[in-house]
Amino acid sequence: MDKTVADLRKDYTLQGLNETDVAPNPFIQFQKWFDEALTAQLLEPNAMTLATTTPDGKPSARIVLLKDFDERGFVFFTNYNSQKGQELAENPEAALVFWWAELERQVRVCGHVEKVSTNDSDRYFQSRPFNSRLGAWTSNQSDIIDNRTLLEQRFEELQAKYENQDVPRPPHWGGFRVIPTQIEFWQGRSSRLHDRILYTRLDDDDWKIQRLSP
Ligand SMILES: Cc1cc2nc3c(=O)[nH]c(=O)nc-3n(C[C@H](O)[C@H](O)[C@H](O)COP(=O)(O)O)c2cc1C
Repeated sequence: MDKTVADLRKDYTLQGLNETDVAPNPFIQFQKWFDEALTAQLLEPNAMTLATTTPDGKPSARIVLLKDFDERGFVFFTNYNSQKGQELAENPEAALVFWWAELERQVRVCGHVEKVSTNDSDRYFQSRPFNSRLGAWTSNQSDIIDNRTLLEQRFEELQAKYENQDVPRPPHWGGFRVIPTQIEFWQGRSSRLHDRILYTRLDDDDWKIQRLSP
């Protein structure tokens, strides 16, 4: 292979994004882009990078799946005892990033984080396949384990325990909602002159729209 990492480059030419064309409300704009990501049949269009920090500002990031969004914010589900869960308990602020490569689009979200209601967590948990529900009980997410066999043994024990029964939601598993203060829509353009449209929430819950330099 002759190419080095530094040689990798792509010019983005698909389309543009104008402050005059975007929806006044960023959730409507997100719905539009998300629908286009679905239509384009992207692999896991609801996969998003979630960044959290410790109280003293050490960041960590990982991918989670968006499972709901509306005017209240962006929802994902996880183990509340995991690294991200503990970081969000101590510092309930987060950033999200979607990268829809085939559409040359990025969406960035940042805001305060709250747990969703236990009802919402129960409802989503019960919609998951049986084995995924068991997985939530099996894994002490982010803890060190000695080997994979232990995990599989625990899973098999739980399969036997819950055979033909409802699997309740573990109390340490549920949803978080990121309530945006800012949402940025990024459309790749030629010569790195990308379009960046930033929505900032105002006190009256209206949104200010500004263009950022690429
Ligand atoms: C495509 C993809 C989707 C994922 N979705 C989730 C998810 O919805 N919830 C979750 O807890 N972890 C999800 N993960 C695993 C996380 O990236 C991560 O490994 C795990 O949550 C532990 O993170 P933490 O130790 O920082 O808490 C996903 C990983 C990938 C690659």
